[in-house]
Amino acid sequence: MAKQTQRLDKFLASTTELTRSLAKKALHRGEVSVNGEVVKNPGVQLTAEDEVVWLEQSLKSWGPRYLLMNKPAGYECTSRSSHHPLVQDLLDLPDKASIHPVGRLDVETTGLLLLTDDGQWLHKITSPRYQKEKVYFAELAEPLVEGAAASLAEGVLLEGEEKPTEPAKLEILDPQRVRLTVTEGRYHLVRRLFAALGNRVVRLHREAVAGLWLDEKALPAGSWRHLSEEEVQGAAQAPRV
Ligand code: URA
Repeated sequence: MAKQTQRLDKFLASTTELTRSLAKKALHRGEVSVNGEVVKNPGVQLTAEDEVVWLEQSLKSWGPRYLLMNKPAGYECTSRSSHHPLVQDLLDLPDKASIHPVGRLDVETTGLLLLTDDGQWLHKITSPRYQKEKVYFAELAEPLVEGAAASLAEGVLLEGEEKPTEPAKLEILDPQRVRLTVTEGRYHLVRRLFAALGNRVVRLHREAVAGLWLDEKALPAGSWRHLSEEEVQGAAQAPRV
């Protein structure tokens, strides 16, 4: 199989704060070297083994990669989509088929989605063993029933399941707008929890996962950024609740 390659200016734009046009200027000024040689041509093709340095800063090649996306509605997290585009379609990166969503959001759910090509890290964030917190904002079709917070804190036996849900924390913003913190990743969990309370979720948006919060202003729907080293470590270590 042919090796994956990527243009140098594109690589700089995805691994630094430079835009593609600023990356070209940095190249023109002789600030970038590839394998120890100054390179000025933005169209040079890199492979994953190439060592790129910008202003004495060694830039990571494209593996492992850790991304935080603000998922828009209408995109799927599975890789067998037939009706909708995939969240990976929003990534302007080489070899993006190897980058996987960390857990799933429904097609119509929006908000924070982590993606990575590091299987061990993905496991640490999603495994029920580590109980990472996920925070959702939900709008409901009906006003909440009395005792909803207590039921969710106690655990709910969902239809067709044998084990009740883990305790979930409900913050009531108003009778039809809530914030829910859960530690499980069951299929359609939030929608099913509110269905069990006789309600229906009309909008679902994820605000946080494993201590990482979505900054909506910095990251509008459909955009993404790399996680910092600190964020990668912190999310994997975030304690159980
Ligand atoms: N729970 C749901 O019901 N849907 C999601 O997308 C995420 C959690």
